[in-house]
Amino acid sequence: MSLKFDFNNMFSSSVGDHGVSQVDINGMLPKAKNAASHLKKLLSDPKARVKLNLEWAKLPEQNKADISKIQKIGKEISKKYENVIFLGIGGSYLGLKAAQDALCLPYYNEFKTLRKKSPRVYFEGNNLDPDTLKTLLKNINPKNTFVVVISKSGETTETKAALMIVEAWLKTGVGVKYGRQILAITDPESGSLHKRVVAEQEKDVLSFRSFPLLKGVGGRFSEFNMGLLHLAIIGININELFNGAKEMSVRCSQDDILKNPAYMYALLHVILYREKQKSLAVLMPFSQGLKSTADWYVQLLAESLGKKYHRKVVVSEDGSEGWINDKDNEFAKGRTPISAAGTNDLHSIQQNNVEGENNKVITFIRVEKFKTDLKIPGKNDLLSGKSFSQLMQLAQEATEWALVRESRPNCTIIMPKITDFTWGALLFFFEMATAFEGELLNINAFDQPGVEGYKNYMYYKLGKPGVSQNIINEIKNHPLLKDPNLIL
Ligand code: PA5
Repeated sequence: MSLKFDFNNMFSSSVGDHGVSQVDINGMLPKAKNAASHLKKLLSDPKARVKLNLEWAKLPEQNKADISKIQKIGKEISKKYENVIFLGIGGSYLGLKAAQDALCLPYYNEFKTLRKKSPRVYFEGNNLDPDTLKTLLKNINPKNTFVVVISKSGETTETKAALMIVEAWLKTGVGVKYGRQILAITDPESGSLHKRVVAEQEKDVLSFRSFPLLKGVGGRFSEFNMGLLHLAIIGININELFNGAKEMSVRCSQDDILKNPAYMYALLHVILYREKQKSLAVLMPFSQGLKSTADWYVQLLAESLGKKYHRKVVVSEDGSEGWINDKDNEFAKGRTPISAAGTNDLHSIQQNNVEGENNKVITFIRVEKFKTDLKIPGKNDLLSGKSFSQLMQLAQEATEWALVRESRPNCTIIMPKITDFTWGALLFFFEMATAFEGELLNINAFDQPGVEGYKNYMYYKLGKPGVSQNIINEIKNHPLLKDPNLIL
């Protein structure tokens, strides 16, 4: 049940001058080999993994006892509650949504037969649009609802604000012991949510129970950590998911770059970006269930590789490696990710993919066998007797062909079936490819300083203590221009 990676259409043999040539590969190989051995060295060093946020690579090998504990609480919640609301944003949300859409049948929340014995699951705290949360809380019963809040920092405005609203709602609905219906997944040592957990548990040990976000795992690389309780609640086989990730980890640890799918994926994209100006990355699964996985990948690529500065490696006195942003070495680049889905978007972005600017690389995900299928009835139509999955695969092949005809580079990830195993493998593949691309480009793939800009502005306007004088001056000296003549 392994994934396959078809890179044919990334090469000049398929798409001419817009593709990668053997000369390009030969030119990049020495650099790629260095990047691979550097990454390998860091990944094999437990201290480096934690210090540099590379611990995600070891998540599939987590302690079985810890997983059982999470599964036990997940089952307990599933048994007792009709609804679970997960509060979180970015890395504390997208992996969960991706897992649910990929691994559960569609319309999971709507039909009890599909949920089996699991509760309905809602995602909130990922937006400041009042309409969704208000509507949800108006229509579900707090007595039957459990809340899981996920935030490493505990300070993220969207999640924090949603938690405050949900707490007030629970308190009114269930009384003072409402904290027993809240579980926090957060940093086990610092942050305001952690402090809250400690304070609540001192008063009542069943209130604000908590699971830790592990050290050295950044939000967007943490589905195999902070997503586990959610997976347990919706009935996913976590061991199988980890088996898939582990199998992919072995494949993606091969030193031979040309045999390593994650390294090849990164290498080919870097060549196409640098040498052929392919700056847009469209991920287009031919599966509705994988659309949210494409959304998850958008965050992974954008936050990891869209960076202002190159990385500077500094070695501390104890000999350990550290990374700082090299302010003298500006990068200010990064491929722009776009999430799409076949076949919906063949009637949308595909026109631009085929005839618009030739500045994109399309990655398809092709599913060989769907969870179900539909055979079209009748005899007199060319569609009669065909199955939906047949047509889906034909549409994917046809889209590849249409792109190749116009010299548009693309590649295909082939998933035999969407299962806990293959989805675990898919996530791990993208994580490894992203980490390797960071190495190739010499940028830190594990921070997201650009996200701070809007947060600081909001904190300043909200009067939050602790905003630095530098930032206050920046905001005061560079106000947004609002010339009324330009507002029509
Ligand atoms: O990848 C990341 O680290 C971010 O996307 C975070 O997950 C996101 O900003 C949410 O942060 P927090 O978990 O602290 O609320």
